[in-house]
Amino acid sequence: MRLATLEDARAIFKWRNHPEVRKFARNVGPISFTTHLAWIKNKFSDQAKTARIFVFELDNQRIGMTRIDKVGINTFEISIIIDPEYQGKGYGKSLLDMTASILRNEGLSCLILAFVHKNNYSSRKLFLQSGYVLADESTLFQKYEFNL
Ligand SMILES: CC(C)(COP(=O)(O)OP(=O)(O)OC[C@H]1O[C@@H](n2cnc3c(N)ncnc32)[C@H](O)[C@@H]1OP(=O)(O)O)[C@@H](O)C(=O)NCCC(=O)NCCS
Repeated sequence: MRLATLEDARAIFKWRNHPEVRKFARNVGPISFTTHLAWIKNKFSDQAKTARIFVFELDNQRIGMTRIDKVGINTFEISIIIDPEYQGKGYGKSLLDMTASILRNEGLSCLILAFVHKNNYSSRKLFLQSGYVLADESTLFQKYEFNL
């Protein structure tokens, strides 16, 4: 697991625009590579570490990513994408666990939030299996919480 670099921009773009990923995204529309590149450069230029993207690789293959956005005092929002070719193999839980470990090793004691589309059953199950608690199911995107 490592911080993403600009060399990951293409892979992240491919994941983000995959129909199975877009289906449950907050912004379901396709995005252009130019827009994506501007977005990712903006994330990377964030010296205050309010947003970080981690990429997980195995045998030189990119398996997936997590993104952590600081959304409040000691509060982060996490999102996750596993490359469609590697879904269904349990990598999701490993990536969530590794991301939590990174934050824990930084000495952070924080709340991690995740917002998951009601119909995204694999993601709902993944967060529950990873120790997240369903905190609000009244909206289309259910809110999950994890106390680190
Ligand atoms: C959601 C996602 C991260 C899950 O990662 P993954 O490694 O593929 O997770 P898995 O496929 O191993 O699924 C996790 C669990 O959900 C279960 N599951 C899968 N599809 C399911 C369904 N339709 N209904 C109920 N459970 C389901 C799996 O069986 C597994 O449980 P198990 O370990 O008891 O067998 C991955 O599918 C993904 O990247 N999706 C697109 C992006 C996304 O939706 N991200 C989440 C929004 S933050």
